[in-house]
Order: sequence, then C-alpha cells, then structure tokens
Amino acid sequence: MGTALIILAAGKGTRMKSDKAKVLHQIACAPMLVHALRAGQVLEPDASVVVVGHDGNAVAKAVNAYDDSVQIAHQTEQLGTAHAVSQAATALKDHTGDAIVLYGDTPFISEETLLRMAEARKKHDVVVLGFNAADPGRYGRLVMQGDTLERIIEFKDADEATRAISFCNSGVVAANANQLFMLIDAVGNNNASGEYYLTDIVEIARKKGLSATAVACDETETMGINSRAELAQAEAAFQARARVQALDDGITLPAPETVHFAFDTVIGRDTIVEQNVVLGPGVTVESGAHIRAFSHLEGCHVSRGAIVGPYARLRPGTELAEDTRIGNFVEIKNAVIDEGAKVNHLSYVGDAHLGEATNVGAGTITCNYDGVMKHHTEVGKNAFIGSNTMLIAPVTIGDNAMTASGSVINKDVPDGAMAVARAPQVTKLGFALKLFEMLKSKKIKRDKGAE
Ligand code: UD1
Ligand code: CA
Repeated sequence: MGTALIILAAGKGTRMKSDKAKVLHQIACAPMLVHALRAGQVLEPDASVVVVGHDGNAVAKAVNAYDDSVQIAHQTEQLGTAHAVSQAATALKDHTGDAIVLYGDTPFISEETLLRMAEARKKHDVVVLGFNAADPGRYGRLVMQGDTLERIIEFKDADEATRAISFCNSGVVAANANQLFMLIDAVGNNNASGEYYLTDIVEIARKKGLSATAVACDETETMGINSRAELAQAEAAFQARARVQALDDGITLPAPETVHFAFDTVIGRDTIVEQNVVLGPGVTVESGAHIRAFSHLEGCHVSRGAIVGPYARLRPGTELAEDTRIGNFVEIKNAVIDEGAKVNHLSYVGDAHLGEATNVGAGTITCNYDGVMKHHTEVGKNAFIGSNTMLIAPVTIGDNAMTASGSVINKDVPDGAMAVARAPQVTKLGFALKLFEMLKSKKIKRDKGAE
C-alpha cells in the first residue's frame, strides 16, 4: 500500500510568453516538473501520474524521457485543479494506497516536508501543505480551528476577514487515493472562477466527518514559476542551495557563486571545483579530483585524482580513470581515458579509447567523423601521440607505439612501432638570407614608386 504521485501539469503558463509548455522550461538542466517528480521519490511511490494538457504530447515525451514508468493522463480542458486530479483516477484505479498531489510548476517542495506530510497522514484523512505567506496575495487561505483544517477558501471567494489570514495553500494535498477521488466527485464549480477547485475537498471531507489538517513549510519551498523572471529566480535559488550543499559535503569551491550545478550532479568530498565551472546533466566527479577554472562538463564520469582544465570541455560519454590529466582547450567526447593518460593541450578526442599512461601531444585530433558516420580510435598503453597528429578513424595505435609530430595517421600502428606520415623536410643553406634581401629591395622600389 504505497503512495502514488499525481503531478498537475496541464496549465498553459501564459505569462512565460513561450511556445513551449511552462513545465518544460528548465531549472538546473531539468524540466521544472522533473524536480517535483524527483522530490516525490522520497515517498517511494509505486505509481506516478503526470496530468498534461497544454502541449501535452511534448510534456509526456519529456516526462517519459526522464522516467518511462511515469503514466500520463490527458486533461483536454482545464476545468480546475479538482478536475485535473480526477483525470489520474483511471491510471490509479488499482491503487489502494495514498495519493499526493504536487504541481509541475512548484519545483522546490522538500523531501523533508513530504515526509512530514506522510507522517501527518497517519492521524488525519486529508493533509494539506500550507505556508505563512509574507504577502498572501491571491493564494487560497487555510481556515484552521486548532489542529484541524476546516476549509480552504480561494482568494476570489474570500471575504475581508478570510483574506486577512496569512496561512496559505501551497496546493500539495495528501489523502487515500480512493477517498481523494470520492471527495473530488462531490466538488462542484459554483464559485467565482467557475472551476472545480481541489481545495473544496477539505470542507466536503469535514462534512463527512473525516479529519483534515495542514502541515506548514517554509515559503521558499512553495515558490511557483509563472514568468521568465521567476524562472531565473528559481534557477538562482537552486544554485544557491546546491553550492551550500556542496560546501557542506566537503567540496572546496574557492568561488561558489560562480559554479553551476545540474539537478543530478554528484561530487565526492575533497574535490576542488574552481571558478566558473559549469556542470551539465549527468556529471559524477569522484573524491579528490580537481576541476579547474572555466571547464564545462556534461554526461561524464571523472575519477579520483584526475585534473581537468582550466578551459576543458568534457562531453557525454567521457570516462576519465584515476590520475588522468585533461588540460586547456581540450574537448573529450564519448571516450574512455585510462589511468594516468594525459591530453594536456588543444586537442579533440572523440569516440576513442586511450590506454593507460598514454600521452597525447598538443593539437592532436581524432578525426572521428567522415561526414556521414562516426568511427572509433583505439590507442594502447604507454603510447606517445606526437603533437598535431591527425588520427583518421577507424584506426588503432598499439601499446608503446609512437606517432611523429604532424603526422596524418590513417593506417594502424602496431605495438612498439613508430609512424611518421608527413612531408620530409628540405633545408636550403643560406637561402633565407638571400630571400630577405630580395624582398627588402623589392619593398624599397615599391615605396619609391608610391611617392
Ligand atoms: C491554486 C490553489 C490555491 C493555492 C495555489 C498555490 C485551487 C483551486 N487553488 O490556485 O489555493 O494557493 O494554487 O499556488 O486549487 N492545473 C491543471 N489543470 C487545471 C487547473 C490547474 O493541471 O485545470 C495545474 C496548473 O498547471 C498548475 C496547478 O494546477 O500547475 C495550479 O493551478 P493554478 O491555476 O495555478 O491554481 P491557482 O489559481 O494558482
Ligand atoms: Ca498558480
């Protein structure tokens, strides 16, 4: 008898002024509704349903790209929050446990808060999440009688005395799923907005002799996103929290305010992340690594003792083993770099494997793309790739092999071999001096002609 998550995400979000559904706009590299989904995981839900409407197919696709076990319910007309929740009933028809309603545009409800709501559910039939609003504005007001939540009154329907209440509705509600759908069946739309209000279930529950209460959380958790400005504020709030968390976890950040984290960043203790590092989605950095300034990482795994940057770019599929070195202006993509290997300057290594302790000289490029297909480059252990080597994939360089600087390598190089593939040098003694004299006298003649 677990919990089911119901995430409301059918609204249009007009104030975003966007062609895209509001809930798909990203915070810390994840659509905002994914944040609500992730927070809900603390309740170990045995089902999750996202209610989509505006741009529903795109929202469904994004949700299932993140987690394909999430069910989608379509709300074709947005008739109110109670109507939205009722759309999840079919998906949850066999669910006998609890349901908790979250909003897709309210990403910061904490795990701790959700656990407190689950705790309160042990004593009450309906549990609503409230907060004391600094500016209660147009939020629904929670009418409390001691511990008991008597009813929720929407701002539009409230009299002056009710509007004076500052304890407001966040929108998050928990109840037994069957009971929730039963209560919703009794909700009408005879109110100032002509909508089916989810908030009405409280009064209906009370009339049926059920108990209802409210759990309070900090107002920062209930921040909803309606505009680009609020999206930017939400990003800033996420980053501020992530930085505090990283410092708390034993990570050194000399300039925390310049480091950007993603929703799923994992960093081990004693790692140093220098100034202006951007961490995209899917980054894991193990303990004791060093990410130097102005590096950009996404979809990669960095092992203990590795040094990355300054100015390095690690793209998806990068796997750096222990004590590797990736230096300035180096891009790595879909490549495994074994222990102790170095790519220190100005290189591109893509679709490749570099063996242990191999050294890649400055300006080396794996030419992985033929214009149609991508090809693999394999480099063995203890190899030495000379500066400015072009490795035309598919190609294999053996263990302990070498390539000469400036080589264009399009044939395999066996273990221990040295490959040179460049035009031979011709040196003409004294020729430079003659050439300079000739050019100088030419310039004098030309300058005279111009006078
Ligand atoms: C709602 C609450 C209000 C609370 C406030 C907190 C009701 C009646 N009111 O008001 O008490 O203080 O949230 O932010 O519940 N949605 C749908 N389908 C619909 C209607 C809404 O999916 O038919 C979704 C929206 O996309 C949004 C959420 O539900 O994510 C809340 O809807 P919204 O219209 O913003 O509710 P409020 O009027 O702000
Ligand atoms: Ca709202």
